[in-house]
Amino acid sequence: MEHFQSQSDLNVLKDSKLDGGEAYRNPKLPVFDRVEDLLNRMTLYEKIGQMTQLDITMINTTGEQKDVALDPVKAREMVLEHHIGSFLNGEAVPARTWFEYMRQLTRIAVEETRLGIPVIYGIDHIHGASYLEGATIFPQSINIGASFNPEHARYTGLVTAIEVADLGHHWIFTPILDLGVQPLWPRLWETYGEDPHLAGTMGAAYVDGLQNCEETAPRKLAATGKHFLGYSDPRSGWDRTPAQLSMQQIHEFHRPSFQKAVDAGLRTIMTNSGEINGVPVVASHDILTKLLRDQMGFEGVVVTDWEDIGKLVNFHYTAENFKKATYDAVMAGVDMSMTPLHLDFNSSLLELVEEGHIPEQRIDESVRRILTLKFELGLFENPYPSGDRFECIGSSDHRRKALEAARESIVLLKNDRNTLPASEPRRIGLFGMSADSKRNLCGGWTLSWQGGREAEYPDDMLTIYSALKAEYPQAEIILHGPEDIPNQKSASDAEMADFVKMLNGMNMLVYAGGEEPYCEFAGNITDLRLPGNQTDELKLLSGSESPLILVLVQGRPRLITDIVDDIDAIIFAGLPGLEGATAIANVISGKVNPSGRMPVSYPMSPNHYLPYNHKRSNLYFVDPQKANQIVQGGAAASPFPFGHGLGYTTFEYSELKLSDRSISRNRHLTARVTLTNTGQVEGMESVLWFTSTRTGRITRPVKELRHFEKISLKPGESATLEFVLSAEMLAYPDENGKLIPASGSCDIMTGNLKESFRIDL
Ligand code: BGC
Repeated sequence: MEHFQSQSDLNVLKDSKLDGGEAYRNPKLPVFDRVEDLLNRMTLYEKIGQMTQLDITMINTTGEQKDVALDPVKAREMVLEHHIGSFLNGEAVPARTWFEYMRQLTRIAVEETRLGIPVIYGIDHIHGASYLEGATIFPQSINIGASFNPEHARYTGLVTAIEVADLGHHWIFTPILDLGVQPLWPRLWETYGEDPHLAGTMGAAYVDGLQNCEETAPRKLAATGKHFLGYSDPRSGWDRTPAQLSMQQIHEFHRPSFQKAVDAGLRTIMTNSGEINGVPVVASHDILTKLLRDQMGFEGVVVTDWEDIGKLVNFHYTAENFKKATYDAVMAGVDMSMTPLHLDFNSSLLELVEEGHIPEQRIDESVRRILTLKFELGLFENPYPSGDRFECIGSSDHRRKALEAARESIVLLKNDRNTLPASEPRRIGLFGMSADSKRNLCGGWTLSWQGGREAEYPDDMLTIYSALKAEYPQAEIILHGPEDIPNQKSASDAEMADFVKMLNGMNMLVYAGGEEPYCEFAGNITDLRLPGNQTDELKLLSGSESPLILVLVQGRPRLITDIVDDIDAIIFAGLPGLEGATAIANVISGKVNPSGRMPVSYPMSPNHYLPYNHKRSNLYFVDPQKANQIVQGGAAASPFPFGHGLGYTTFEYSELKLSDRSISRNRHLTARVTLTNTGQVEGMESVLWFTSTRTGRITRPVKELRHFEKISLKPGESATLEFVLSAEMLAYPDENGKLIPASGSCDIMTGNLKESFRIDL
């Protein structure tokens, strides 16, 4: 212990007489004054403790993630001797277990330490309270993006807050504001999709729902925008591998989603563990200070991702030892290190300050931010968890919200000859690895990091099989395992004929395929095609006379180009969560008219990574689908581009009118369009407004989403929608983030309509 005390620390300790009436304990004083008072009382090592976040396994009884049981001896050592201010992690356990654990940990921090600073607990409740047994599990973010309805992002945050605020989970490691632009990337499903405006709007709505939830008062929560920034666009498509991005690209594409969340009051940011242009982000002053603080105006806490400082030594090899790595990260702008399995950060930082390499003012800067967060969340007044709201965990109201989100997130990609909806099928043949699986519907970060085991999911959660039975109580639904599908290479002709005869006896074949859960590097792949022999199985089923419906339960767009023409209807279900099976069955039966839209451009083939807003560069390509002809394409070659999605009614866009033929700095432009439901059933339409500036000083994306709105219309009903465009919205950043005003001609597009106007400088 002596080893960790500096001379100035001993002076602070000698001078400090606490009588309980200290200014920092007075809730009537402004947060700023309380922070300064507290900071002045702290020893250097106490401050460094606040900058450290340790994993649950450092203080639980067995050292296993699942073990949410405090070992008081270990916890006391970390909190009393090393003043650790934050812990993270765990897995899904009952509310009472979390409550008891947090109560004991809080008591040690609040009642046994000299200054009584409460700990802040960080946790991966990624899509709802996904690390709490019995909680409401929302669809993953890729589905929320597909819903094009920010209310679902807001409710995901709000319901998470209500279900966990009382348990002492103050710090939620969501939303993921990375862009889903690399289809191989194993975390694509954690994003809201490929578009900066969509991702930012959803992220800001989540932050609002989680951080401003009045129902949990006086308790407040902090969201985490992650992973700052450029993490999602690695060249190889693998997790935490190098990205090459110019600063101009960063400002134009990767910054806006974070900026929107920062402007919405985002309290914390987690760093990208990877590197950009050879510089690990956790050691980049340009990214963590110049960009994030100076340009984006972020004032909250920056925490590293898992072991990021250690990774500078043993993964990126930019630092020779942990002490140098600590120097690099702290001087780059890190406030808190998710160290998380040892105390090297503390000892290194102490030495760095004592030796004069890092000024104590730099430490104060970070500790001020961390204490401000703790005061603003009300932790000093309400440090203890309470058991008041257990009954609302997984309540029917909350689950209805998850169901509504799932329903709006299902995308109907293809529907030949109106195969769907299927109103009265009598016999349904059901196939595929997701047909009777709960875990596949939820994906990673559900119950545990890589997704829970099947038996751990709630008994009352439906699979696609049980949901179809509930949807069609009169029908016979025959579930086939992989062993029921004959191997085309070894099966005899008679076996094959029997199988096809059996298929022909069905009114409908449903193949629920896609991916099994994975997370981070465990989801790295080298081949984007559907895994296993799903493509072959689908080919075989498509030989039958019965209509074939493919349901893709997956976290990224696995290639279906080879079979797309053979399948009658295709549903992109993404990872729709706890209520996902009901949502899928509702869409198949027509009880729900699908309204999801693709939040990413579905690639046509391996290496076809073109988001819809790509730059005009690659206009011609050799199309394997068209006898290798050279065709004009770009993103148009996507079989299901960003924004694509069918429904059971038809919408007509008409009378697109602009208030003016030009826009200038002082004159906004209002665009109006009439939308009519021209079909037979009620439906929801996501109205997407794009612009396309024809020329620019820097090459411009072919088109950009500027605004979206979701509206429900009855058959025959019309509505006029409008959106106000300003010249600022059309400006674009240079490599320093300085905005270049757009000029010249510009198109505005919605539905199948287009109008042009000029931008006057
Ligand atoms: C992930 C983060 C997560 C953290 C804590 C990391 O490996 O990249 O997204 O929040 O672990 O579990």
